[in-house]
Amino acid sequence: MKKIGILFGQENTFPPAFVESVNSKKESDIAAEYVRINKVIQSEPVDYAVIIDRISQDVPFYRGYLKNAAISGTAVINNPFWWSADEKFFNNALAVKLSVPVPKTILLPSNQHPPDTNERSFRNLEYPLDWEGIFNYIGFPAFFKPFAGGGWKNVYKLNTPEEFFKAYHETGTLVMMLQEAIEFDEYFRCYCIDQKNVRIMRYDPKQPHHLRYVQNPLPIETKLFKTIEENVITLNKALGYDFNTVEFALRNGIPYAIDFCNPAPDADLHSVGQENFEWVVDTSANMAIRKTKDYKPNINNLTWGDFVRSFVSNKNFPTKKTNAK
Ligand SMILES: Nc1ncnc2c1ncn2[C@@H]1O[C@H](COP(=O)(O)OP(=O)(O)O)[C@@H](O)[C@H]1O
Ligand SMILES: [Mg+2]
Repeated sequence: MKKIGILFGQENTFPPAFVESVNSKKESDIAAEYVRINKVIQSEPVDYAVIIDRISQDVPFYRGYLKNAAISGTAVINNPFWWSADEKFFNNALAVKLSVPVPKTILLPSNQHPPDTNERSFRNLEYPLDWEGIFNYIGFPAFFKPFAGGGWKNVYKLNTPEEFFKAYHETGTLVMMLQEAIEFDEYFRCYCIDQKNVRIMRYDPKQPHHLRYVQNPLPIETKLFKTIEENVITLNKALGYDFNTVEFALRNGIPYAIDFCNPAPDADLHSVGQENFEWVVDTSANMAIRKTKDYKPNINNLTWGDFVRSFVSNKNFPTKKTNAK
């Protein structure tokens, strides 16, 4: 019997539905359950061919457990090594290389020194920063948000340099980025599963959390739909995520990718709604089953993106879309 495990935190609806969905498909020799962890011994294989990780971003102990599982072959979704390395500023830089439109973005040093550092630790950094150049490049309004964040925490929309400096002082040791605000007509949030299954959902960020996913949405114009779908796949292939969401803000007909570092994306029935929930449960269950069938012990069964693979194979990273039809 090959096992699929799901590792999760406080969420209520997705984990049980996922387990039930896998098991209801009655694949011979494949069963899903909640991951069980006790003694974590170095290099010792775990009992799972596949683990869906929904929580290691908040529980570093789990991240360690998952990396240890992966070296004996467990296919962890998403790749815990890449997830540890990734962040939003890099994501945007990569999108530029891939010709996927993104808002102009600048990385800023944290306002306060990180623990155990002082001004002597920053002798490579010019002071003051070229604030005028930065503000001229980004413009206002601007978004100001952590380079490695999530859940809308510490996300500011700012209108003036004065507002910026006030916010900057509030952010302490967080590394933040300043980003052009895309004043959008429409907004989309897209699941991408197994680097090929895309679900484009209309999303209204101006609504309260539980009302943001538009229910009974209007159809999306075919050309825009295709562009979004293609960009979602391009980004996820380059990054190597099996399960992710990409957000787009539409301005003057161009979808700008806003946030595509969501390796444990919201999949709660009460926020995404019944139809999206059924899709995400069923599609992720099918992916887990496929990966379980492909699983071989003691080899690397993780997914690695084109970006990493280009280095391993000593090839230039492709700068054009790789999935153009
Ligand atoms: N550059 C931007 N232009 C327009 N809206 C943005 C921009 N950046 C963020 N937002 C808005 O703020 C929300 C939260 O920012 P996001 O980058 O998604 O951070 P998080 O990872 O915390 O969700 C987005 O869903 C979007 O509504
Ligand atoms: Mg977001």
